Amino acid sequence: MRLHKDPKRSESSRRWLQRQIKDPYVLRSKKEGYRSRAAYKLLELNEKYHFLKPSLTVLDLGAAPGGWTQVAVPLVKSTSENPSVFAFDILPMEALEGAVVFEGDFMDDVVLKNLEEQIGGKVDVVLSDMAPSATGHAATDHLRIVGMVEAAYDFAQHILKPGGAFVAKVFQGGTEKDLLLLLKQDFEKVHHAKPPASRKESSELYVIALGYGKGKSVAKEETVKRNVEG
Ligand SMILES: C[S@@+](CC[C@H](N)C(=O)[O-])C[C@H]1O[C@@H](n2cnc3c(N)ncnc32)[C@H](O)[C@@H]1O
Repeated sequence: MRLHKDPKRSESSRRWLQRQIKDPYVLRSKKEGYRSRAAYKLLELNEKYHFLKPSLTVLDLGAAPGGWTQVAVPLVKSTSENPSVFAFDILPMEALEGAVVFEGDFMDDVVLKNLEEQIGGKVDVVLSDMAPSATGHAATDHLRIVGMVEAAYDFAQHILKPGGAFVAKVFQGGTEKDLLLLLKQDFEKVHHAKPPASRKESSELYVIALGYGKGKSVAKEETVKRNVEG
């Protein structure tokens, strides 16, 4: 398909549109009824690491337009009568059967407190596909990305059940290594993956941290306790 040149459309948005038209994941998402091509990233990650299973509760951060939520609902068998998938975004998100949708800014502490209260307990899986909108100023964008991933990790520590999983989008460029070290303290296993659906030219990566509370810090505490107890 050829696109007519529209002088009002910027070169970058024209490139974006061309890429969307040719992208096999975009075509597939339209055919299979997913709200975003991002849905395939979660499907591919879960195929490999199996963190979404029936009867688990899930918090999906940065959920709009809802591709990941659509993937999570059937995998954990969440229903509208007994929902176990909570979707959260700063943008409005269309309702989805089997999920509870919340709207708010994740970087606002009052909003987070309210979210925690509304969920009313701990969850088995925290997903974060959040990404701040780019300002175009590289240093500012980098700081905002780092801040967001760290905030997601902080919140996950509050709300995860023992044995739970944290799956989050990070970006190459130093921060993901620091985060990896932190996660290794708290989780039994930590993986780093770029699913095939993630565009090669994008610096995004995902961390998949499994077995919350069974990492090095807990192992260290247990060793100290054993030594003290003789
Ligand atoms: C890549 S999109 C998520 C796509 C989604 N996982 C899906 O499958 O459809 C990133 C999302 O992060 C959200 N986001 C960015 N900053 C946020 C914030 N401060 N609080 C909550 N959500 C935020 C954006 O609104 C956007 O919807």
